[in-house]
Amino acid sequence: MKVAILKEAGDETRVAAIPETVKKFAALGAEVAIERGAGEQAGIADTDYEGAGAATGARAEALKDADVILCVQGPEPAALAGAKSGALLLGALDPLRRRAAIDGYAAATIDALAMEWMPRSTRAQSMDILSSQSNLAGYKAVVDAASAYGRAFPMMMTAAGTVSPAKLFVMGVGVAGLQAIATAKRLGAQVSATDVRAATREQIQSLGAKPIFVENVAGIEGEGTGGYASEMSPEYQAAQAELVSGHLAKQDLVITTALIPGKPAPRLISDAQLATMKPGSVIVDLAAEAGGNVEGTVAGERVTKHGVTILGPVQLARTLAADSSALFARNLYNFLAAFWDKEAGLALPDDDELVKAIRLTRDGAVVSERLVAAS
Ligand code: NAI
Repeated sequence: MKVAILKEAGDETRVAAIPETVKKFAALGAEVAIERGAGEQAGIADTDYEGAGAATGARAEALKDADVILCVQGPEPAALAGAKSGALLLGALDPLRRRAAIDGYAAATIDALAMEWMPRSTRAQSMDILSSQSNLAGYKAVVDAASAYGRAFPMMMTAAGTVSPAKLFVMGVGVAGLQAIATAKRLGAQVSATDVRAATREQIQSLGAKPIFVENVAGIEGEGTGGYASEMSPEYQAAQAELVSGHLAKQDLVITTALIPGKPAPRLISDAQLATMKPGSVIVDLAAEAGGNVEGTVAGERVTKHGVTILGPVQLARTLAADSSALFARNLYNFLAAFWDKEAGLALPDDDELVKAIRLTRDGAVVSERLVAAS
């Protein structure tokens, strides 16, 4: 078996393999070929890969006869010219927004697998790129908020007087939100958090933060399928807005991360609520790419409204390229290793729930029910 790793295009800083996963693929009996310069932006030199047993070279050399092609972002189909028929392509292929490219993979008889569609199950936890990247994004959101904030986070008692602690509020306590809480606590902020899923209350408390929850309103569970949030009743939304309004006015920093699968991000902070916040406050809206949780967020920009700085970062994990690459690369390896036998090689059975969830194309056709249903 030959595994090829491509150099990413555009703004992507991450890479789909690290020396550690190269060694692990080699231990499974694979030959690993890396496109020259693939790890540069993640701090991995070609010589590091070579030291781990990989060959490095031009893209065409890496792709030639490769059975498995690993990427972070899905390449344009034309960039895979020379890949053999039936090769597997694995990465964050963004199938719904890149349908034409997925059709292109099918036309080239590349069997494409979208890692972001991995089920959120215990079995697949170590293969979950959404979790590994969101975790880092949650951390970086707090670090960026701290850097944009004109004051310190922890309480400091100094000879020149006391510095009061920053109050930080996390809205949306999934993977990114939990890491944001943990990071803000470590930096010494007073942290509170809210979510629509009742199960998060205990998680917030276990991190030493204060839960802010709507009580006694219909539809409070907030849990839809697969552990994700569902859209809330108008009654709930009104109660949430009222509760949050009072709380927001007292906050110095807010990190919003709320997402609902397949829908635009829920609006959690209105312009009127922004106007009640203290000038100099900072919001980091991690839902910026999905339309934003905050009225006025601009994806990829830093804006100021009513004296409040709003950051709308996109693909924040890219700013931690070494760590995000390492986790992404291990997610890919963990998935493949689960189906790889040293003697028999790699086999992805179509009736396996993980394979079924992420497989997009096979033998020249789009076979993903989810993708077909969405088009
Ligand atoms: P997400 O990125 O889809 O959403 C972030 C958070 O926003 C969620 O906690 C959601 O409940 C919350 N939210 C949505 N609407 C909101 C509103 N109006 N107000 C406040 N909060 C709102 O979530 P993520 O991080 O992808 O996690 C989703 C679920 O998957 C969680 O239950 C998580 O524990 C579970 N999970 C399971 C894994 C596994 O077992 N392999 C791995 C990762 C996550």
